Amino acid sequence: MTFISGRFGQFGYFDHQLRRPAWPGKTVLDFGGNAGNLLKDPNCTIEHEKYWCIDISGDAIQKGARDYPEAHFILYNRYNFEFNPGGIQGLAVPDTRQKYDFILAYSVFTHTTKAEMLELTGEFMNMLNRGGALAFTFLDPNLPDCGPEPANLRLFLQRRIRLGDGAIEAMLDRARGATWCTVANQDLYVGHESLKPYRRNEMEGYLTFYTPEFMKTIFPGAEVLAPPRDLSIHHCCILRNG
Ligand SMILES: C[S@@+](CC[C@H](N)C(=O)[O-])C[C@H]1O[C@@H](n2cnc3c(N)ncnc32)[C@H](O)[C@@H]1O
Repeated sequence: MTFISGRFGQFGYFDHQLRRPAWPGKTVLDFGGNAGNLLKDPNCTIEHEKYWCIDISGDAIQKGARDYPEAHFILYNRYNFEFNPGGIQGLAVPDTRQKYDFILAYSVFTHTTKAEMLELTGEFMNMLNRGGALAFTFLDPNLPDCGPEPANLRLFLQRRIRLGDGAIEAMLDRARGATWCTVANQDLYVGHESLKPYRRNEMEGYLTFYTPEFMKTIFPGAEVLAPPRDLSIHHCCILRNG
């Protein structure tokens, strides 16, 4: 069974970050949209026939297509460390023969390499209608107020790393002041993504963090927004076409 997301609230998140656009009539690509949970929101006014979801999880795509027969669910067999280690490295994005008013990606580039984020966001800019927007989320390692502990990265390491408190503190020391870092399985990579080899059946977790300042340098012209209070711990990066 491949990954099916149990997360909701994506529509409210993007509706807020994009300042409540008029969704009806707009074409939307939910990249990494899994089983289409964005459409489950009772306030969601995206028209199903104008909604496309591309994801690498076969079971999620099947479920979405079953739940929303008028929408478009497309399987994309691209390699991903965490969600599709048997997939094809660098596979091109499926051609939907469509341009979009909105391309959304919630918690997707948090689970890919930086190189993949740069490649795909560049491609998505060519898939936007004039005036369209690409909005995707990212995690700030230093988000200060997501709980009693000071940082997102600390919380994540405490949840995932099984090597004890000493190892976690050593990782946090290495990541201090970094503009970006990646946690793959039990290993921390700071400022690079040249991973050591992992066996395919041992690939379990992959999460990348970027500071908002760094995102502004790699996406000049982007609007970088903090998480809306109580809605999410994800920052948002918005790029507009024209
Ligand atoms: C953490 S889940 C988030 C799912 C969904 N956006 C949500 O908020 O419920 C990450 C999703 O991204 C998908 N994914 C990861 N890399 C992808 C890629 N290169 N292309 C398309 N989907 C991808 C995964 O299959 C998974 O469904």
